[in-house]
Amino acid sequence: MIHFDAQTRTFNLNLRASYYAFQVDAEDRLVHLGWGRRPDDAGEEQVVAGQSAVFPFDRSWSFVVQFRPDEILTFGDVTTYQTTIKARFPSLSRPLAEGEASHVPIRDLRLRYSEYTIATDSQPGYAPVHGLPVRDTTPRQTLRVVLVDPVQSCTVTACYRLTPEHDIIERWLELENTGRDAITFDHCYSASLHLPNGCTELTSVNGSWAREFCIQRSQLTPGSHVVESRTVTTGHNANPFFFLNNPGSAGEHDGIVYFGALAYSGSWQFTFEQLPTWDIRVHGGYNPFDSTITVVPGDIHRTPAFVTGLSTEGWGGASRSLHAFTRERVLPVPAHGESERPVLYNSWEATAFDLSYENQVLLARTAAAIGVELFCVDDGWFGGRRSDRAGRGDWVVSADVFPEGLEPLVAEIERLGMKFGLWVEPEMVNPDSDLYRAHPDWVLHFPGRPRTESRNQLVLDFGRPEVVEYLFDLLSDLVRRYRIAFFKWDMNRMVTEPGSVAGTAIWRAHVKGVYSLMDRLREAHPTLEIQSCSGGGGRIDLGILARTDQVWASDNTDAFDRMRIQEGFSLAYPARTMEAWVTHEHNHMTRRVTSLQLRFALAIRGVLGIGSSLDSLSQEELDGYASYIAFYKRIRHVIQQGHLYRLQRLDEYGSSIHEYCLPDGSEAVYSLVVETHPVGSFRPDPPLRGLRSNAIYRITDEQGTELESASGYQLMTLGFPGELKEYPGYSRTMHLKIR
Ligand code: GLA
Repeated sequence: MIHFDAQTRTFNLNLRASYYAFQVDAEDRLVHLGWGRRPDDAGEEQVVAGQSAVFPFDRSWSFVVQFRPDEILTFGDVTTYQTTIKARFPSLSRPLAEGEASHVPIRDLRLRYSEYTIATDSQPGYAPVHGLPVRDTTPRQTLRVVLVDPVQSCTVTACYRLTPEHDIIERWLELENTGRDAITFDHCYSASLHLPNGCTELTSVNGSWAREFCIQRSQLTPGSHVVESRTVTTGHNANPFFFLNNPGSAGEHDGIVYFGALAYSGSWQFTFEQLPTWDIRVHGGYNPFDSTITVVPGDIHRTPAFVTGLSTEGWGGASRSLHAFTRERVLPVPAHGESERPVLYNSWEATAFDLSYENQVLLARTAAAIGVELFCVDDGWFGGRRSDRAGRGDWVVSADVFPEGLEPLVAEIERLGMKFGLWVEPEMVNPDSDLYRAHPDWVLHFPGRPRTESRNQLVLDFGRPEVVEYLFDLLSDLVRRYRIAFFKWDMNRMVTEPGSVAGTAIWRAHVKGVYSLMDRLREAHPTLEIQSCSGGGGRIDLGILARTDQVWASDNTDAFDRMRIQEGFSLAYPARTMEAWVTHEHNHMTRRVTSLQLRFALAIRGVLGIGSSLDSLSQEELDGYASYIAFYKRIRHVIQQGHLYRLQRLDEYGSSIHEYCLPDGSEAVYSLVVETHPVGSFRPDPPLRGLRSNAIYRITDEQGTELESASGYQLMTLGFPGELKEYPGYSRTMHLKIR
């Protein structure tokens, strides 16, 4: 509920368990009052009354006035600390007054309250909205507070969209040029958050290719800490989400945790700031690096949404809010409306560039026999792409690989009862390709400089509308021609020379181009599904999830490494978006050998996929695969739609225990994997959560064998007993269902 008190000019945003309040001060600035937990007995109507002196310091104290917590901090009003916006104007929009110097460039912005509106609508997705259908369309309220510069012709609207049931507020800004000259914004974040003094424990993730989502817990110290991406994708080295809490006062299951996640897939930045007052601020949005925003007269620029929230149930509660929000409000629902993600087979680890009709058909027949529902042909099906050195960009089926075309393979896959999926990497080109030979100027480059290749490829210039248009026609034609149900959309490099016809706007133009391609393709082919992949987990964020169905978390499919990668992923993103494969016993990347049980135990924590060379497995092994796939199909509704409780984390006792539980407590999946287990140590048995105390649960294992029955009360107090025989690589997965 949004409430405005006209007397005190105080805004109250009341959510399920949290409040957010700010006020217009005597000088018409928007000043933050507070963000926190609501008292448990507070009614909907209870509001913060506002204060007569919002900012308690005497204005003559020049050193402290810079600490004023403006909702939108602008350069000029504040210069000493980080600001939300910094703008430049070519001239003053009124004649100079006496005593004003004519040669002073104007590079400040003052924002003063003008008016507000509250809209109630069912707009899906984020700002800017994508228009694709989502699961929950219950109307939500959006508060728009209009602020104007008293001198310059610039209006900024601060937007707050509420999803009260998850204690989430989406924040974004709209920059409008109401004058006659272009305005340049040196930087503009989506929002600046004011967190209570002492909220210094930061949870975030870092990593690299094949080592994504490593959880990092650190302490903010006075000054700034920057987490960012400086390429045209989200990046492997960091991911745009965070948790913040007072050290020692929050944990996995309890305590107040503030969280934020950016709905953007390009060059982004979070700046965490601890002021000398010990107040904490978080500025999140576009990365200002090499990037200005020019807004021409009459235009409006909308920033991406910064999804922010508060959990009263620790880090686990923050994850569950983000997961539910993503499932209900973000992920597009394809026209066929299937609510569960299919079991996929991908041929990359089996055949790499050595594709043929024969080997794909053989794999497809075996895949169908063990229960696979979607068969995806990976890299190497097109142009001269017999290795990663040539052919990318020539998205035409290769006659060398498929002499009869792709149609016979597609027909066979469909006859086997599976859907057909195809790998593409539309944003890239190999210099050794027909596309590059025809359009060498279509790639990012600086004239007169070498074009740095990475994996032998260059990045197409999405600053050119004709490139995006060309790709749309091509991809749309592929979907139509081969009845493609699923694209694995890859992107395998970072940018080195960001030279574009769009200038520095390329950072945003690239993301806009990718989003528009995906949105238009889905609109034109409403049953099409897309997986976002970028050399593994390089493009995973809430922006890409608004137009894709799932993501590839990492190229690393080693079960032990996956324990950590997937735990980090689970902090922000729901299981139903995480494609996870079972691959060979002997992992090709780490050389580690792991049991089939462990590999499945990890892969069923997300959307199950198979990447093994099925043609080299014995019938006994294939029977094992089939039995696990059948098990997954029995429990996947719980994994993909249930709440996640991380009952035990790897950093605690070397084992990871996840419980997935349907919201009504009727079914759950208990999943234990052990990374390390020092001999002589005992890990405690964590109580389960979210079940019904009075109910009796039937507990079955992966083979469907009934192990025992237990009451919800027993399970939520004593948990499952651990075993002395646990060892690195040990796993157990159990299905609990009310009798
Ligand atoms: C990337 C992907 C892999 C695979 C290869 C194909 O590395 O992450 O899964 O598709 O490209 O070249």
